[in-house]
Amino acid sequence: MSGDVILATNDVTMRFGGLAAVTDLSLAVRRGTIAGLIGPNGAGKTTCFNMITGFYKPTTGSIVFDGQEVTGLPPHKVCKAGIARTFQNIRLFGNETVLENVMIGRHLRQKTSWIDAVLFTPGYLREDKAMRAHCLELLAAVGLADLADEQASSLAYGAQRRLEIARALATEPSFLLLDEPAAGMNPQESEDLMGFVRTIRQDFDLTILLIEHDMKVVMGICEHIWVLDYGVTIAEGAPEAIRRDPKVILAYLGEEGGLHA
Ligand SMILES: Nc1ncnc2c1ncn2[C@@H]1O[C@H](COP(=O)(O)OP(=O)(O)OP(=O)(O)O)[C@@H](O)[C@H]1O
Ligand SMILES: [Mg+2]
Repeated sequence: MSGDVILATNDVTMRFGGLAAVTDLSLAVRRGTIAGLIGPNGAGKTTCFNMITGFYKPTTGSIVFDGQEVTGLPPHKVCKAGIARTFQNIRLFGNETVLENVMIGRHLRQKTSWIDAVLFTPGYLREDKAMRAHCLELLAAVGLADLADEQASSLAYGAQRRLEIARALATEPSFLLLDEPAAGMNPQESEDLMGFVRTIRQDFDLTILLIEHDMKVVMGICEHIWVLDYGVTIAEGAPEAIRRDPKVILAYLGEEGGLHA
């Protein structure tokens, strides 16, 4: 694939005991694109995200992000390098407010230390104020500004997914991984999600890689797609080619919803 590759996984394999969850995965995601990673349940998609973000160390292979090898780095270092993610099963601090959940993401970029916080130094107070303002802007960007003081667990499902995205954006990523952002959404919400993903890509200058079962979303916004089945990459290409690929159709036979977009 030509162009400037921001993320490359080179023959990455992840084994759990006797199970090869992902085998020889070689992704090359071009900067500024919206790319997709699809495949039936258990194909190894989330495992890929876990390797890219440092939650799992690949058994073999390497991962290069923006010219820097990140293979095996712990999650906070990968995040600091510019990779942020959301989770398939939403992981919010339910008892905290919506704003506090975003601020948790922002702490990664905080310059003052905990001792400044304890002593309420002017530097800390200045940074804290700027941080709140910035997080409120992020909430506005995902359409949650009015709910900043609500408890996170009180939000509707779709709003919780957008809050997770705001928290990811607070870490100032250049690369965003979304694990099934449309899961549990009704058709109108997933339609809105497509516009929303395009908007944040533009406004935050992002490259986005998303895992999604909703084929309307995948085919609607992804410029390039990789297809996994039993951990093996069975196809790669533009949406139209993927939709017609016999290997892909076969892999999806029997899957609820199949490849119908
Ligand atoms: N920590 C782990 N220990 C052992 N096996 C694991 C672990 N994580 C994932 N697996 C296995 O690896 C395989 C791939 O799982 P993964 O969650 O990556 O699939 P997926 O493509 O994200 O599926 P889904 O669409 O259902 O979310 C599965 O067989 C799963 O049981
Ligand atoms: Mg998954």
